[in-house]
This record gives sequence, structure tokens and C-alpha cells, in this order.
Amino acid sequence: MPVNIAIDGPAGAGKSTVAKRIAEEFGYLYVDTGAMYRAMALFFLQKGIDGRDEAAIEAACREVSVSLEYRDGAQQVLLNGENVTDRIRTEEVSRMASVTSVYRAVREKLVQQQRELARRRDVVMDGRDIGTAVLPDATLKVYLTASSRVRALRRFKELKERGEEVNLEAIEEEIIRRDERDMNRALSPLKRANDAVLLDSSEMTLEEVLREMEELVEDAGSRGCCGC
Ligand code: DC
Repeated sequence: MPVNIAIDGPAGAGKSTVAKRIAEEFGYLYVDTGAMYRAMALFFLQKGIDGRDEAAIEAACREVSVSLEYRDGAQQVLLNGENVTDRIRTEEVSRMASVTSVYRAVREKLVQQQRELARRRDVVMDGRDIGTAVLPDATLKVYLTASSRVRALRRFKELKERGEEVNLEAIEEEIIRRDERDMNRALSPLKRANDAVLLDSSEMTLEEVLREMEELVEDAGSRGCCGC
């Protein structure tokens, strides 16, 4: 049985940083499922589809393909065969991904691919619904969170370092709006699975979170699958 590690949590909690490091250290494949929703969102934006138009989105889902590739260990996202990894990190795509990930047609397409990957490989998969819906029998489930203020501050510093004009209040408001959408949608909303370990990183350094994660992964490895 492959090792499947599920890390869920809200935007900006540090999931991808932690998941990448754990994948590197333990030799697992890192699967960033958010990037798949982002690639779909980019496609809808390119086609000029309104995020509220479910029928148009459903139709567009039939003509889109999103796939993952790995280059020197780094995940690349392909949209209809084209590498869009560098184009899915804009605010516009973030918002569209949160809006369009509520639809069944979008989720079904991606969840199927995610399960297939985890069936064949040892993976660390991060997202919103990995422990609750995608991999309910994951070896280890972690819910990584932090207060909206702390997450906004982290993002603020990141953008400032890149020389961007930023406003902390506006960033926090956008984070809260995304949390609300992700947590309150009907299909696979973001929530902690009953058997997920809660890690609140609000008052922890990255190194502390990593140490805790390493211990959890080591314990899970020695326990075998789903605690059996
Ligand atoms: O993790 P991220 O910020 O790249 O995710 C972008 C959006 O995709 C997020 O707002 C909600 C959606 N998403 C989802 O619905 N399910 C996942 N497993 C991952 C992301």
C-alpha cells in the first residue's frame, strides 16, 4: 500500500511549504491539488466564462485537460498540454479558482485524477478536501491552519519583498472571503476530518511546524496504513 499523506487547511497556512519539504525528506511525490483547480480557473478566464455560469463551466470541463508532470522533482501543471505553472499564481486566478471549485463538474474531474495518483505512488497531497473526500483512508491526515491575521501578515511580507504595493487590511479581507467560500460550499467544503491532527501554526515558526510534521510522518510510517 502506498503512503498517502493528506494536508488540508485554508489559504496561506503554509501547506505547500510544509508538504514540499516533507515530500523531499521522505522521498514522496508532492501533489499540489490547488494548482489543478487554478489551471481549470485559468482556462475559464481565457474563455471569458463568467464564474457564476455553471452550465458554461460544465460544458468547458468537457474540453479541458489538466495534468501534472514533474521536472527535477518540481510539479508542473499542464493545461491542454501547455505548461501554465507560472501563470496560475495571480490574484485573478486565485479568486476564480475559489469561485469555480464549488462546481461538481470541476471537482469530479480533478478528484478522479488525484485518487489515481495516490493509488500508484507515495504522495503528500495538499488541498481543502484531501482528508475528507479525496483520500478518506490516508495514512496520515493533518489540518494545518493559522489565524487570518497571521496568514495575511505572511502574504503581506512576501509581496512587499517582491516590491509590490500592498495593504494588509485588504489582504486579510480577501483571505477571509476565500475562507468563507471554501468552508461554506455544498460540495467537499474545507473542514478538518474527524481523524486529522490539528496543527495551528499561528504561533509557531516554520521549523517548529516541520519538526512536528516529521514526527507525525515517522509515527504514521511505523503504524502502517490508516492506523492498522
Ligand atoms: O491551495 P490554493 O490556494 O492553490 O487553492 C486554490 C483554490 O482551489 C481554493 O480557493 C479552493 C480550491 N481548492 C479546492 O477546492 N480543493 C482542493 N483540494 C484544493 C483547492
